[in-house]
Amino acid sequence: MNDTLILAIESSCDETAVAILKNETELLSNVVYSQIKTHQEFGGVIPEVASRIHVEKITYVIKQALTEANVVMEDIDAIGITFGPGLIGSLHVGLQAAKTLAWMYNLPLIPVHHIAGHIYANAYVATLKYPLLAIVVSGGHSELILMNKENEFKVIATTVDDAIGEAYDKVARVMNAGYPGGPVIDKLAKEGKPHYNLPKVKTANENELSFSGLKSAVIQCVAKEKKLGNDININDLAFAFQERALEQILEKTELMINEHPVQHVVLAGGVAANSKLRQDLTELMIHYPDINLTIPPMWCCTDNAAMIAMSAAVNYRYNILATEDLGAKSTVDIEQFHQ
Ligand code: KG4
Ligand code: ZN
Repeated sequence: MNDTLILAIESSCDETAVAILKNETELLSNVVYSQIKTHQEFGGVIPEVASRIHVEKITYVIKQALTEANVVMEDIDAIGITFGPGLIGSLHVGLQAAKTLAWMYNLPLIPVHHIAGHIYANAYVATLKYPLLAIVVSGGHSELILMNKENEFKVIATTVDDAIGEAYDKVARVMNAGYPGGPVIDKLAKEGKPHYNLPKVKTANENELSFSGLKSAVIQCVAKEKKLGNDININDLAFAFQERALEQILEKTELMINEHPVQHVVLAGGVAANSKLRQDLTELMIHYPDINLTIPPMWCCTDNAAMIAMSAAVNYRYNILATEDLGAKSTVDIEQFHQ
């Protein structure tokens, strides 16, 4: 049988990324140009700036991915592309590049949902077993997704306000700790100890998550300490925030494991890089020895195109192909898209 090579492009936020995957198993290249340094100057992602950098870098990243894989465009069998969700201007750049390549080389175009990509990143290190529970924690999403079978997605819990990564970033800004907030707070919290008492997050329904109240509690805590003339211990504050943020994820995960016949739990999204979450989830799952646990390696937690290539490869098997009028979408319902 001939090899199948998929070239995938990801540009939904602030990473310009291209990967080439062979036969759904062999990652030939995975090039990521991170814009973090530029956005650090602004303390967050400026969408307009992100789009502009994608335009500047995309050709270079495509070329680099081909070079590292030691292939040429004529070897490629299909193009995978994140069409949403994400920043609309950023998505447009990758999508337009993908459509142009597909047209020039007469290749099928495979649309990929960014979150499906995060989940399928785990397929690089494990054989996925279904029903599978994916804990999706990123800068734009916080949800628990149940997959009864391959490529079928059901959102069984979701945030009613901010995403967890967004909360990490906002809290780090309040603490003047830098951007992106996730890795910074992760590091500070390691030096922190129980000191500040932030309220436990409560939601109206068990299938809800919430992070904006926690962010406000951090702001109030800072204001109160300032009023009292106390210096803020940012290690301890990072510790307190992280305890409450992760507690929710773990409690909801356990709840959903008890409610659904889950055989495999996977972590997905940028916040999957968090050392405390990785540790706490591993400890929780010791109590469920019959359920597999996969925590993605650090290289495929934050945005990259390897994960998009893997999801594209699965979609390709299901003949999920885009028509020429595929457009970028800032929001996409994963259940509907994969119906
Ligand atoms: O998946 P991702 O790269 O982009 C989106 O799809 O949103 O996730 C980025 C998010 C950011 O909010 C960042 O602060 C967070 O992931 N993040 C972390 C860590 N590393 C990245 N959050 C907590 N701990 C980390 N170590
Ligand atoms: Zn992402």
